[in-house]
Amino acid sequence: MTTRLMIALVICLMLAAGTVQAGGDAARGAELAADCGACHGEDGMGDEDNPKIAGMDKASFVAALQGYKSGEREDESGMMADYAADLSEQDMADLAAHFKSLGGN
Ligand code: HEC
Repeated sequence: MTTRLMIALVICLMLAAGTVQAGGDAARGAELAADCGACHGEDGMGDEDNPKIAGMDKASFVAALQGYKSGEREDESGMMADYAADLSEQDMADLAAHFKSLGGN
C-alpha cells in the first residue's frame, strides 16, 4: 500500500469518528436505551416516579441530557446525572432519535 493511500485512509477514519450525525441514529439509540428502560420504561412512557420521554422533541431531549451532564439542570431525583455523565454527543442524538420514534401519545 502506498503511503499516500495510507494517509488518505487515516484522514477518512478521523473524519468519520469526529462527525456527529445530527439527526441521530435511532437503531443505535435503541441499543443504548437498554439502560434507560428500567426507569422510563422500555417504551419510554414513564410512570409516577419517572417522566415520559417517548415522543419528546429531539432538541429538548438532548438539551435535558446535556444539562444533567454539565450539572446546569437541577435533577431532583439525583438519578439522571450519573446516566448522562457517560453519554457522548452522538449517544444523546441517537437516544433522542430512538425515543422520538417511539412516539408515545
Ligand atoms: C434510575 C432511573 C433512571 C434511569 C436509569 C434513567 N432515567 Fe432519565 N430520568 C429519571 C428521572 C427520575 C427523571 C426526572 C429527573 C428530574 O428530577 O429532573 C429523568 C429525566 C429524564 C429526561 C428529562 C425529561 C423531561 O421531561 O425533561 C430525559 C430526556 C431522560 N431522563 C432520559 C434518559 C435516558 C436517555 C436514559 C438512559 C441513558 C435515562 N433517562 C435513564 C430517571 C432515570
